[in-house]
Amino acid sequence: MVDVLLGLQWGDEGKGKIVDVLANQYDMVARFQGGPNAGHTLVIGGKKMVLHTIPSGVFHDRPINLIGNGVVINPVTLRAEISNLETAGIDIKKQLYISKKASLILPTHKILDAASEAQKGSAKIGSTLRGIGPTYMDKTGRNGIRVGDILSNDFRSIYEKLKEKHLNLLKIYDFHFDLVADEKEFFEAIDFMKGLQIVNSEYFVNEYIQNGKKILAEGAQGCMLDIDFGTYPYVTSSNTVTASACNGLGISPSKIKEVIGISKAYCTRVGSGPFTTELEDEMGEKLRKNGNEFGATTGRPRRCGWIDLPALKYTSMLTGLTKLIITKIDVLNDFDSINACTRYLHNGKETNELPYDIVNDKIYPVYDSFEGWNTSLADATDFDLLPANAKKYLDFIENYLGVPISLISNAPDREKMIIKDTTLLV
Ligand code: GDP
Ligand code: IMO
Ligand code: MG
Repeated sequence: MVDVLLGLQWGDEGKGKIVDVLANQYDMVARFQGGPNAGHTLVIGGKKMVLHTIPSGVFHDRPINLIGNGVVINPVTLRAEISNLETAGIDIKKQLYISKKASLILPTHKILDAASEAQKGSAKIGSTLRGIGPTYMDKTGRNGIRVGDILSNDFRSIYEKLKEKHLNLLKIYDFHFDLVADEKEFFEAIDFMKGLQIVNSEYFVNEYIQNGKKILAEGAQGCMLDIDFGTYPYVTSSNTVTASACNGLGISPSKIKEVIGISKAYCTRVGSGPFTTELEDEMGEKLRKNGNEFGATTGRPRRCGWIDLPALKYTSMLTGLTKLIITKIDVLNDFDSINACTRYLHNGKETNELPYDIVNDKIYPVYDSFEGWNTSLADATDFDLLPANAKKYLDFIENYLGVPISLISNAPDREKMIIKDTTLLV
Protein backbone atom coordinates (compact mmCIF):
# COMPACT_ATOMS: atom_id res chain seq x y z
CA MET A 1 0.00 0.00 0.00
CA VAL A 2 0.94 3.61 -0.48
CA ASP A 3 0.74 6.42 2.07
CA VAL A 4 0.85 9.93 0.67
CA LEU A 5 2.46 12.82 2.57
CA LEU A 6 1.55 16.34 1.49
CA GLY A 7 1.94 19.97 2.43
CA LEU A 8 -1.46 21.50 3.20
CA GLN A 9 -0.47 25.17 2.93
CA TRP A 10 1.84 27.07 0.53
CA GLY A 11 4.82 24.76 0.93
CA ASP A 12 7.67 24.59 3.47
CA GLU A 13 5.47 22.98 6.10
CA GLY A 14 8.35 20.74 7.20
CA LYS A 15 7.68 17.82 4.84
CA GLY A 16 11.37 16.91 4.63
CA LYS A 17 11.71 16.49 8.38
CA ILE A 18 8.54 14.42 8.68
CA VAL A 19 9.40 12.15 5.74
CA ASP A 20 12.75 11.54 7.41
CA VAL A 21 10.98 10.73 10.69
CA LEU A 22 8.67 8.23 9.01
CA ALA A 23 10.95 6.83 6.30
CA ASN A 24 12.30 3.78 8.05
CA GLN A 25 8.82 2.27 8.21
CA TYR A 26 8.69 2.15 4.43
CA ASP A 27 10.41 0.15 1.69
CA MET A 28 10.32 3.01 -0.76
CA VAL A 29 10.09 6.79 -0.57
CA ALA A 30 8.97 8.30 -3.86
CA ARG A 31 8.72 11.88 -5.10
CA PHE A 32 5.83 12.26 -7.56
CA GLN A 33 5.69 15.90 -8.68
CA GLY A 34 7.55 19.20 -8.64
CA GLY A 35 11.27 19.48 -9.03
CA PRO A 36 14.13 21.59 -7.72
CA ASN A 37 11.69 24.37 -6.78
CA ALA A 38 11.31 22.25 -3.65
CA GLY A 39 13.69 22.57 -0.74
CA HIS A 40 13.19 19.92 1.94
CA THR A 41 15.29 20.42 5.06
CA LEU A 42 16.47 17.62 7.33
CA VAL A 43 18.46 18.19 10.50
CA ILE A 44 20.31 15.08 11.61
CA GLY A 45 22.79 15.13 14.47
CA GLY A 46 22.80 18.94 14.31
CA LYS A 47 23.75 18.84 10.62
CA LYS A 48 21.40 20.47 8.13
CA MET A 49 20.78 18.96 4.67
CA VAL A 50 18.50 20.43 2.02
CA LEU A 51 17.10 18.12 -0.65
CA HIS A 52 15.59 19.49 -3.86
CA THR A 53 14.97 16.55 -6.18
CA ILE A 54 16.01 13.56 -4.13
CA PRO A 55 13.40 12.00 -1.81
CA SER A 56 13.85 12.59 1.91
CA GLY A 57 14.22 8.89 2.75
CA VAL A 58 17.90 8.77 1.85
CA PHE A 59 19.18 8.97 5.40
CA HIS A 60 17.74 5.57 6.30
CA ASP A 61 18.81 2.07 5.31
CA ARG A 62 15.42 0.46 4.77
CA PRO A 63 13.77 2.43 1.94
CA ILE A 64 14.98 2.79 -1.59
CA ASN A 65 14.23 6.19 -3.07
CA LEU A 66 12.49 6.88 -6.37
CA ILE A 67 12.11 10.02 -8.44
CA GLY A 68 8.80 9.36 -10.18
CA ASN A 69 7.55 10.17 -13.66
CA GLY A 70 5.67 13.26 -12.46
CA VAL A 71 8.88 15.00 -11.37
CA VAL A 72 10.88 17.52 -13.43
CA ILE A 73 14.63 17.04 -13.07
CA ASN A 74 17.49 19.42 -13.61
CA PRO A 75 20.47 17.10 -14.20
CA VAL A 76 22.89 19.73 -12.88
CA THR A 77 21.01 20.12 -9.59
CA LEU A 78 20.61 16.35 -9.28
CA ARG A 79 24.30 15.78 -9.76
CA ALA A 80 25.19 18.43 -7.16
CA GLU A 81 22.75 16.89 -4.69
CA ILE A 82 24.18 13.42 -5.19
CA SER A 83 27.68 14.76 -4.72
CA ASN A 84 26.66 16.49 -1.45
CA LEU A 85 25.11 13.29 -0.17
CA GLU A 86 28.20 11.29 -1.07
CA THR A 87 30.32 13.80 0.81
CA ALA A 88 28.01 13.20 3.78
CA GLY A 89 28.81 9.49 3.51
CA ILE A 90 25.54 8.33 1.93
CA ASP A 91 25.84 5.61 -0.72
CA ILE A 92 23.09 7.32 -2.67
CA LYS A 93 23.69 5.83 -6.13
CA LYS A 94 22.82 2.39 -4.81
CA GLN A 95 19.49 3.37 -3.29
CA LEU A 96 18.27 5.92 -5.85
CA TYR A 97 16.06 5.06 -8.84
CA ILE A 98 14.86 7.49 -11.48
CA SER A 99 11.84 7.15 -13.74
CA LYS A 100 12.51 7.04 -17.47
CA LYS A 101 9.38 9.14 -17.85
CA ALA A 102 10.45 11.99 -15.57
CA SER A 103 10.89 15.26 -17.49
CA LEU A 104 14.19 17.02 -18.04
CA ILE A 105 14.70 20.69 -17.26
CA LEU A 106 16.90 22.20 -19.97
CA PRO A 107 19.06 25.30 -19.49
CA THR A 108 16.67 27.15 -21.82
CA HIS A 109 13.69 26.24 -19.60
CA LYS A 110 15.34 28.18 -16.79
CA ILE A 111 15.98 31.11 -19.11
CA LEU A 112 12.36 31.06 -20.30
CA ASP A 113 11.20 31.06 -16.67
CA ALA A 114 13.36 34.10 -15.89
CA ALA A 115 12.34 35.92 -19.10
CA SER A 116 8.65 35.30 -18.45
CA GLU A 117 8.89 36.51 -14.86
CA ALA A 118 10.87 39.62 -15.89
CA GLN A 119 8.16 40.51 -18.41
CA LYS A 120 5.38 40.19 -15.84
CA GLY A 121 6.68 43.21 -13.90
CA SER A 122 4.59 43.75 -10.77
CA ALA A 123 2.42 40.68 -11.54
CA LYS A 124 5.36 38.30 -11.03
CA ILE A 125 4.47 34.83 -9.74
CA GLY A 126 7.59 34.91 -7.60
CA SER A 127 8.78 31.69 -9.26
CA THR A 128 11.85 30.01 -7.85
CA LEU A 129 13.29 30.48 -11.39
CA ARG A 130 14.19 26.82 -11.62
CA GLY A 131 12.46 26.37 -15.00
CA ILE A 132 9.52 24.46 -13.54
CA GLY A 133 6.68 26.19 -15.44
CA PRO A 134 8.30 26.03 -18.91
CA THR A 135 9.26 22.34 -18.39
CA TYR A 136 5.71 21.32 -17.46
CA MET A 137 4.45 23.44 -20.39
CA ASP A 138 6.63 21.41 -22.74
CA LYS A 139 5.46 18.18 -21.12
CA THR A 140 1.76 18.95 -21.55
CA GLY A 141 2.46 20.58 -24.93
CA ARG A 142 4.00 17.24 -25.97
CA ASN A 143 7.38 18.74 -26.74
CA GLY A 144 9.20 17.66 -23.61
CA ILE A 145 12.34 15.59 -23.22
CA ARG A 146 12.29 12.73 -20.76
CA VAL A 147 15.01 11.01 -18.77
CA GLY A 148 14.75 7.90 -20.97
CA ASP A 149 15.73 10.03 -23.97
CA ILE A 150 19.23 10.57 -22.61
CA LEU A 151 19.94 6.89 -23.37
CA SER A 152 19.21 7.45 -27.07
CA ASN A 153 22.05 7.94 -29.55
CA ASP A 154 20.00 10.82 -30.96
CA PHE A 155 19.83 12.70 -27.65
CA ARG A 156 21.92 15.62 -28.92
CA SER A 157 19.60 16.21 -31.87
CA ILE A 158 16.47 15.80 -29.68
CA TYR A 159 17.99 18.44 -27.41
CA GLU A 160 18.96 20.79 -30.25
CA LYS A 161 15.44 20.66 -31.70
CA LEU A 162 13.81 21.75 -28.44
CA LYS A 163 16.53 24.30 -27.78
CA GLU A 164 15.87 25.90 -31.20
CA LYS A 165 12.19 26.15 -30.32
CA HIS A 166 13.09 27.85 -27.06
CA LEU A 167 15.50 30.27 -28.73
CA ASN A 168 12.71 31.30 -31.10
CA LEU A 169 10.34 31.77 -28.18
CA LEU A 170 12.94 33.86 -26.36
CA LYS A 171 12.98 36.36 -29.25
CA ILE A 172 9.70 37.84 -28.00
CA TYR A 173 11.40 38.82 -24.75
CA ASP A 174 13.95 41.54 -24.30
CA PHE A 175 16.07 39.22 -22.20
CA HIS A 176 19.80 38.65 -22.31
CA PHE A 177 21.35 35.31 -21.55
CA ASP A 178 24.46 33.26 -22.11
CA LEU A 179 23.95 29.58 -22.69
CA VAL A 180 27.52 28.39 -23.26
CA ALA A 181 28.55 27.61 -19.67
CA ASP A 182 25.09 26.25 -18.80
CA GLU A 183 25.10 23.87 -21.75
CA LYS A 184 28.53 22.52 -20.89
CA GLU A 185 27.42 21.80 -17.33
CA PHE A 186 24.17 20.31 -18.59
CA PHE A 187 25.85 17.77 -20.87
CA GLU A 188 28.38 16.80 -18.23
CA ALA A 189 25.48 16.16 -15.85
CA ILE A 190 23.63 14.17 -18.52
CA ASP A 191 26.68 11.90 -18.89
CA PHE A 192 26.73 11.53 -15.12
CA MET A 193 23.01 10.63 -15.08
CA LYS A 194 23.58 7.78 -17.52
CA GLY A 195 25.40 5.98 -14.72
CA LEU A 196 22.35 6.13 -12.41
CA GLN A 197 19.58 3.53 -12.06
CA ILE A 198 17.02 4.62 -14.65
CA VAL A 199 13.90 2.45 -14.58
CA ASN A 200 10.42 1.89 -15.98
CA SER A 201 9.12 3.21 -12.71
CA GLU A 202 5.43 2.38 -13.10
CA TYR A 203 6.29 -1.34 -13.29
CA PHE A 204 8.83 -0.94 -10.52
CA VAL A 205 6.37 0.76 -8.14
CA ASN A 206 3.53 -1.65 -8.84
CA GLU A 207 5.79 -4.64 -8.31
CA TYR A 208 6.65 -3.23 -4.92
CA ILE A 209 2.96 -2.87 -4.10
CA GLN A 210 2.19 -6.38 -5.36
CA ASN A 211 4.93 -7.79 -3.16
CA GLY A 212 3.30 -6.22 -0.10
CA LYS A 213 5.95 -3.53 0.36
CA LYS A 214 5.18 -0.16 1.87
CA ILE A 215 5.61 3.06 -0.09
CA LEU A 216 5.62 6.64 1.15
CA ALA A 217 4.83 9.15 -1.60
CA GLU A 218 6.50 12.46 -0.72
CA GLY A 219 4.73 15.58 -1.97
CA ALA A 220 6.48 18.81 -2.80
CA GLN A 221 5.09 22.34 -2.51
CA GLY A 222 1.67 22.55 -0.86
CA CYS A 223 -2.00 22.21 -1.78
CA MET A 224 -2.56 25.99 -1.94
CA LEU A 225 0.07 26.02 -4.73
CA ASP A 226 -1.81 23.35 -6.74
CA ILE A 227 -2.21 24.27 -10.41
CA ASP A 228 -5.99 23.58 -10.30
CA PHE A 229 -6.99 24.35 -6.72
CA GLY A 230 -4.38 26.81 -5.49
CA THR A 231 -4.43 30.60 -5.60
CA TYR A 232 -4.21 30.64 -9.41
CA PRO A 233 -2.25 32.04 -11.18
CA TYR A 234 0.04 32.39 -8.15
CA VAL A 235 0.71 28.67 -8.00
CA THR A 236 3.24 26.15 -9.20
CA SER A 237 2.80 24.18 -12.42
CA SER A 238 1.90 20.75 -11.03
CA ASN A 239 -0.92 19.21 -9.05
CA THR A 240 0.09 18.95 -5.44
CA VAL A 241 -2.96 17.11 -4.06
CA THR A 242 -3.23 13.36 -3.32
CA ALA A 243 -4.41 12.49 -6.83
CA SER A 244 -1.07 13.66 -8.18
CA ALA A 245 0.64 10.72 -6.48
CA CYS A 246 -1.35 8.40 -8.76
CA ASN A 247 -0.36 10.23 -11.96
CA GLY A 248 3.15 10.93 -10.79
CA LEU A 249 3.94 7.32 -9.95
CA GLY A 250 1.53 5.27 -12.04
CA ILE A 251 -0.54 3.83 -9.20
CA SER A 252 -4.26 3.31 -8.79
CA PRO A 253 -6.18 5.43 -6.23
CA SER A 254 -7.31 2.15 -4.64
CA LYS A 255 -3.71 1.56 -3.52
CA ILE A 256 -3.62 4.68 -1.34
CA LYS A 257 -4.10 4.09 2.35
CA GLU A 258 -3.21 7.03 4.57
CA VAL A 259 -3.09 10.65 3.48
CA ILE A 260 -0.78 12.45 5.86
CA GLY A 261 -1.00 16.24 5.68
CA ILE A 262 1.46 18.69 7.20
CA SER A 263 0.63 22.17 8.42
CA LYS A 264 2.64 24.64 10.38
CA ALA A 265 1.06 25.87 13.61
CA TYR A 266 0.83 29.21 11.78
CA CYS A 267 1.23 29.95 8.07
CA THR A 268 3.85 31.11 5.58
CA ARG A 269 4.09 31.79 1.89
CA VAL A 270 7.07 32.60 -0.30
CA GLY A 271 6.51 34.36 -3.61
CA SER A 272 3.57 36.50 -4.69
CA GLY A 273 -0.16 35.94 -4.40
CA PRO A 274 -3.01 36.18 -1.93
CA PHE A 275 -2.37 35.34 1.71
CA THR A 276 -5.45 36.21 3.75
CA THR A 277 -3.93 35.88 7.21
CA GLU A 278 -0.62 37.56 6.39
CA LEU A 279 0.82 39.77 9.13
CA GLU A 280 2.79 42.66 7.73
CA ASP A 281 3.67 43.99 11.17
CA GLU A 282 5.93 43.17 14.09
CA MET A 283 3.91 39.98 14.78
CA GLY A 284 4.76 38.72 11.27
CA GLU A 285 8.36 39.73 11.86
CA LYS A 286 8.39 37.78 15.12
CA LEU A 287 7.05 34.65 13.40
CA ARG A 288 9.73 35.02 10.70
CA LYS A 289 12.45 35.42 13.30
CA ASN A 290 11.27 32.66 15.65
CA GLY A 291 10.65 30.27 12.76
CA ASN A 292 13.75 31.26 10.80
CA GLU A 293 11.42 31.69 7.85
CA PHE A 294 13.77 32.03 4.90
CA GLY A 295 13.37 29.88 1.78
CA ALA A 296 15.37 26.62 1.67
CA THR A 297 15.77 26.95 -2.11
CA THR A 298 16.04 30.67 -2.78
CA GLY A 299 16.82 32.14 0.64
CA ARG A 300 13.95 34.63 0.21
CA PRO A 301 12.22 35.79 3.42
CA ARG A 302 8.92 33.96 3.78
CA ARG A 303 5.74 35.94 4.35
CA CYS A 304 4.23 34.97 7.71
CA GLY A 305 0.77 35.00 9.28
CA TRP A 306 -1.73 33.16 11.46
CA ILE A 307 -3.08 29.73 10.66
CA ASP A 308 -5.90 29.80 8.08
CA LEU A 309 -8.36 27.08 9.08
CA PRO A 310 -10.92 27.46 6.25
CA ALA A 311 -8.01 27.06 3.79
CA LEU A 312 -6.83 23.98 5.71
CA LYS A 313 -10.37 22.60 5.71
CA TYR A 314 -10.40 23.12 1.93
CA THR A 315 -7.09 21.32 1.41
CA SER A 316 -8.07 18.50 3.76
CA MET A 317 -11.22 18.07 1.65
CA LEU A 318 -9.23 18.03 -1.61
CA THR A 319 -6.71 15.54 -0.28
CA GLY A 320 -8.98 13.18 1.68
CA LEU A 321 -6.76 13.79 4.68
CA THR A 322 -6.62 10.98 7.26
CA LYS A 323 -3.77 12.13 9.51
CA LEU A 324 -2.70 15.63 10.41
CA ILE A 325 0.78 16.64 11.50
CA ILE A 326 1.44 20.07 12.99
CA THR A 327 4.97 21.44 12.75
CA LYS A 328 6.80 24.37 14.31
CA ILE A 329 4.59 24.61 17.39
CA ASP A 330 7.71 25.90 19.22
CA VAL A 331 7.65 29.06 17.09
CA LEU A 332 4.56 30.18 19.04
CA ASN A 333 6.16 29.58 22.45
CA ASP A 334 6.53 33.23 23.41
CA PHE A 335 3.31 34.72 22.04
CA ASP A 336 0.89 36.09 24.64
CA SER A 337 -1.99 35.43 22.33
CA ILE A 338 -2.37 33.44 19.14
CA ASN A 339 -4.99 33.89 16.45
CA ALA A 340 -6.58 31.28 14.23
CA CYS A 341 -8.65 32.36 11.24
CA THR A 342 -11.90 30.42 11.46
CA ARG A 343 -13.92 32.18 8.73
CA TYR A 344 -13.71 34.93 6.14
CA LEU A 345 -15.60 38.11 5.54
CA HIS A 346 -16.44 38.24 1.83
CA ASN A 347 -18.77 40.85 0.33
CA GLY A 348 -19.97 41.72 3.83
CA LYS A 349 -20.90 38.13 4.67
CA GLU A 350 -19.15 35.50 6.75
CA THR A 351 -18.16 32.38 4.89
CA ASN A 352 -15.84 29.37 5.19
CA GLU A 353 -15.45 29.05 1.45
CA LEU A 354 -12.60 30.38 -0.64
CA PRO A 355 -13.99 32.50 -3.49
CA TYR A 356 -13.33 31.64 -7.15
CA ASP A 357 -11.39 34.84 -7.79
CA ILE A 358 -9.24 34.82 -4.71
CA VAL A 359 -6.79 37.23 -6.34
CA ASN A 360 -9.25 40.09 -6.94
CA ASP A 361 -12.08 39.33 -4.50
CA LYS A 362 -10.93 40.69 -1.20
CA ILE A 363 -11.56 38.34 1.72
CA TYR A 364 -10.85 39.35 5.28
CA PRO A 365 -9.90 36.92 8.03
CA VAL A 366 -12.12 36.56 11.11
CA TYR A 367 -10.12 35.25 14.05
CA ASP A 368 -10.67 33.22 17.17
CA SER A 369 -8.12 34.17 19.79
CA PHE A 370 -6.18 31.80 22.04
CA GLU A 371 -4.05 32.48 25.07
CA GLY A 372 -0.39 31.64 24.54
CA TRP A 373 1.53 29.23 26.75
CA ASN A 374 4.71 31.27 27.23
CA THR A 375 6.73 28.13 27.94
CA SER A 376 9.42 26.43 25.92
CA LEU A 377 8.18 23.21 24.32
CA ALA A 378 11.72 22.23 23.34
CA ASP A 379 11.80 19.12 25.53
CA ALA A 380 8.17 18.08 25.19
CA THR A 381 7.52 14.52 24.00
CA ASP A 382 4.13 13.73 25.52
CA PHE A 383 0.96 15.44 24.32
CA ASP A 384 -0.78 14.95 27.65
CA LEU A 385 1.98 16.87 29.44
CA LEU A 386 1.79 19.94 27.17
CA PRO A 387 0.71 23.24 28.76
CA ALA A 388 -3.09 23.48 28.82
CA ASN A 389 -3.12 26.45 26.42
CA ALA A 390 -1.05 24.58 23.84
CA LYS A 391 -3.39 21.59 24.07
CA LYS A 392 -6.40 23.87 23.75
CA TYR A 393 -5.01 25.42 20.56
CA LEU A 394 -4.12 22.04 19.02
CA ASP A 395 -7.45 20.46 20.02
CA PHE A 396 -9.26 23.36 18.41
CA ILE A 397 -7.42 22.79 15.11
CA GLU A 398 -8.13 19.07 15.27
CA ASN A 399 -11.83 19.61 15.95
CA TYR A 400 -12.17 22.28 13.28
CA LEU A 401 -10.68 20.00 10.62
CA GLY A 402 -12.22 16.80 11.92
CA VAL A 403 -8.94 14.96 11.30
CA PRO A 404 -6.80 13.58 14.15
CA ILE A 405 -3.44 15.15 14.87
CA SER A 406 -0.91 12.31 14.85
CA LEU A 407 2.29 14.14 15.55
CA ILE A 408 3.49 17.58 16.56
CA SER A 409 6.95 18.78 15.65
CA ASN A 410 8.71 21.05 18.13
CA ALA A 411 12.16 21.65 16.58
CA PRO A 412 13.99 21.13 13.27
CA ASP A 413 15.92 18.08 14.54
CA ARG A 414 14.76 14.63 13.48
CA GLU A 415 14.25 13.32 17.02
CA LYS A 416 12.23 16.30 18.26
CA MET A 417 8.52 15.54 18.23
CA ILE A 418 5.43 14.97 20.31
CA ILE A 419 3.71 11.75 19.30
CA LYS A 420 -0.04 11.76 19.74
CA ASP A 421 -0.95 8.71 17.66
CA THR A 422 1.39 5.88 18.60
CA THR A 423 0.37 3.83 15.54
CA LEU A 424 2.12 6.36 13.30
CA LEU A 425 5.56 5.21 14.39
CA VAL A 426 5.67 1.49 14.94
P1 GDP B 1 9.54 21.49 3.41
O1 GDP B 1 9.77 22.15 2.11
O2 GDP B 1 8.09 21.25 3.68
O3 GDP B 1 10.36 20.25 3.60
O4 GDP B 1 10.02 22.52 4.53
P2 GDP B 1 11.37 23.41 4.50
O5 GDP B 1 12.52 22.54 4.79
O6 GDP B 1 11.43 24.24 3.27
O7 GDP B 1 11.06 24.43 5.67
C1 GDP B 1 10.79 24.01 6.96
C2 GDP B 1 11.83 24.65 7.89
O8 GDP B 1 11.41 24.51 9.23
C3 GDP B 1 13.19 23.97 7.81
O9 GDP B 1 14.18 24.92 8.07
C4 GDP B 1 13.12 22.93 8.93
O10 GDP B 1 14.40 22.59 9.44
C5 GDP B 1 12.33 23.69 9.96
N1 GDP B 1 11.49 22.87 10.83
C6 GDP B 1 10.82 21.73 10.58
N2 GDP B 1 10.07 21.36 11.66
C7 GDP B 1 10.29 22.29 12.61
C8 GDP B 1 9.79 22.48 13.94
O11 GDP B 1 8.98 21.73 14.45
N3 GDP B 1 10.25 23.59 14.60
C9 GDP B 1 11.12 24.47 14.06
N4 GDP B 1 11.50 25.51 14.77
N5 GDP B 1 11.61 24.32 12.82
C10 GDP B 1 11.18 23.25 12.11
P1 IMO C 1 8.64 22.89 -0.98
O1 IMO C 1 8.55 21.51 -1.57
C1 IMO C 1 7.31 27.04 -1.03
C2 IMO C 1 6.32 28.76 -4.92
C3 IMO C 1 7.24 29.84 -5.43
C4 IMO C 1 6.25 30.66 -6.25
C5 IMO C 1 5.36 29.61 -6.86
C6 IMO C 1 5.75 29.18 -8.26
O2 IMO C 1 9.96 23.26 -0.43
O3 IMO C 1 7.51 23.11 -0.02
P2 IMO C 1 7.70 27.73 -9.29
O4 IMO C 1 9.19 27.82 -9.15
O5 IMO C 1 7.13 26.43 -8.87
O6 IMO C 1 7.24 28.12 -10.67
O7 IMO C 1 7.12 28.86 -8.31
O8 IMO C 1 5.44 28.48 -6.01
N1 IMO C 1 6.98 27.49 -4.57
C7 IMO C 1 7.21 27.09 -3.31
N2 IMO C 1 6.97 27.71 -2.14
N3 IMO C 1 7.81 25.78 -1.03
C8 IMO C 1 8.04 25.14 -2.19
O9 IMO C 1 8.43 23.86 -2.25
C9 IMO C 1 7.77 25.81 -3.41
N4 IMO C 1 7.90 25.48 -4.71
C10 IMO C 1 7.40 26.51 -5.40
O10 IMO C 1 7.80 30.57 -4.36
O11 IMO C 1 5.46 31.46 -5.40
MG1 MG D 1 10.71 23.86 1.34
